[in-house]
Amino acid sequence: MEGRRQHWPSVGRVDEAQDVRTFIDSNADQWLAGLQEWLRIPSQSGDPALAGEVRRSAEWLATALREAGFPTVEVWETPGLPAVYAEWPADDAGAPVALVYGHHDVQPVEPLEQWTAPPYDPVVVDGRLLGRGAADDKGQVAMHLLGLRAHLAATGRSAPAATVKVLVEGEEESGSPHFVDLLRAQRERLRCDVVVVSDTGLWRADVPSTVIGLRGLVSCQLDLVARDVDLHSGSFGGAVLNPATALARMLATLHDESGHVAVPGFYDSVLEPGEEERAMTAALPYDEAQWLADAHSTVPAGEAGWSTLERVWVRPTAEVNGYWAGHTGAGTKTIIPREAHAKLSFRLVAAQEPDQVRAAVEAWAHAAAPAGATVTLTWEGDGVRPCATPLGTPALQALHRAMARAWGTDVLVTREGGSGPEADLQDVLEAPLVYLGVSLPDSREHAPNENVPVEMLLKGAESAAYFWSELAAQA
Ligand code: BES
Ligand code: MN
Ligand code: MN
Repeated sequence: MEGRRQHWPSVGRVDEAQDVRTFIDSNADQWLAGLQEWLRIPSQSGDPALAGEVRRSAEWLATALREAGFPTVEVWETPGLPAVYAEWPADDAGAPVALVYGHHDVQPVEPLEQWTAPPYDPVVVDGRLLGRGAADDKGQVAMHLLGLRAHLAATGRSAPAATVKVLVEGEEESGSPHFVDLLRAQRERLRCDVVVVSDTGLWRADVPSTVIGLRGLVSCQLDLVARDVDLHSGSFGGAVLNPATALARMLATLHDESGHVAVPGFYDSVLEPGEEERAMTAALPYDEAQWLADAHSTVPAGEAGWSTLERVWVRPTAEVNGYWAGHTGAGTKTIIPREAHAKLSFRLVAAQEPDQVRAAVEAWAHAAAPAGATVTLTWEGDGVRPCATPLGTPALQALHRAMARAWGTDVLVTREGGSGPEADLQDVLEAPLVYLGVSLPDSREHAPNENVPVEMLLKGAESAAYFWSELAAQA
């Protein structure tokens, strides 16, 4: 961390729009160099060997927040990996209070050979910042530092127009196992009128949008065990249960012929989107060929009766993430494997509850398992609940105005099929959520060559700068 000093100049003129963008452009290079330094820290929360790196990442962010001027910056310990909290009160005690949410942990980087540049040595190629965490989510957290400084510089203020709190967790990519407890323990200090989530994407670089819903998630490992030894397939094959075959049959019954999830009770509490939302989805400039290209796929697939966007936004899913059994190495090994395994995950939509879906899947697995084998499901964490923001939320209008100023065009409404601890933020803090996110459909989050256009991060910073003024003006 030595040698880095972000110098944040002040401007202090009053043409807010012009000065916000001027400030951002003239400070972008130095800001970007700082972000690249942060991206060099391999803060993978899923790998216990890298816990020290997640701590280093938290310290890096705490230092950057202090340099940006936040009078209060704290690293919050959890039983797992640390979060970072910061607070900058508005001068006006009656000003609205916003909490920015993001995460500083990242996903693993394998397969390494598919990266065109090393994942932890970020570079800018054709205007895109490339590296693990560039889009998900360090870049989107860092854009708030630039945005807040631009807001101060352009308005001539010494404190933001709205009180700005920041909470950046270190375990999101591991399912946020300690986050809800942290929220409950720090509920008073986190009190806010709106949560600004910066961990999602835009519809397109030239079509700004905000998210109004995320899906939930439960995931498990399924173990199907027939016996305690592998058997010679010549001596026993054909006359005993093969758990590898049995597992394949089970997994094939997760969906019916038309792509519906065939787990009894799975859809019991699913709510369908309302008319207003359907109209907004229909208004999106959607190109199925482009969507398929971003998905590196040639044909759409899924539940009959629903469009591609509905399938990923408002319908729940069952997915096989992986499965394995027996001999997978070189050459032939003529065995009946003793056991077989699968990793399954389920995306949830309102008003499905993780507990209810887990129970339905358990019942399905036990009914589907053949005689002569035992099935065990081991669930990962507590699961994630789905989350939605009502279209009439006033802060959503303020965010749309702010983004419209940055892009110079209308802001549309989307959902995301991904998941995070948003429902806990909404429920524990009793505040509405709005999403200022700037990754793109081809940002390759979680994959090799994760990237985000630097210009999207700068537009995000610009939007954040206007948002603090818009929010205060609306109050
Ligand atoms: N930023 C993503 C959530 C997301 C995914 C937003 C796709 C927009 C589009 C987040 O970091 C993430 O990857 N969440 C995980 C949650 C899981 C690890 C509990 C996910 O959705 O798989
Ligand atoms: Mn994320
Ligand atoms: Mn992620």
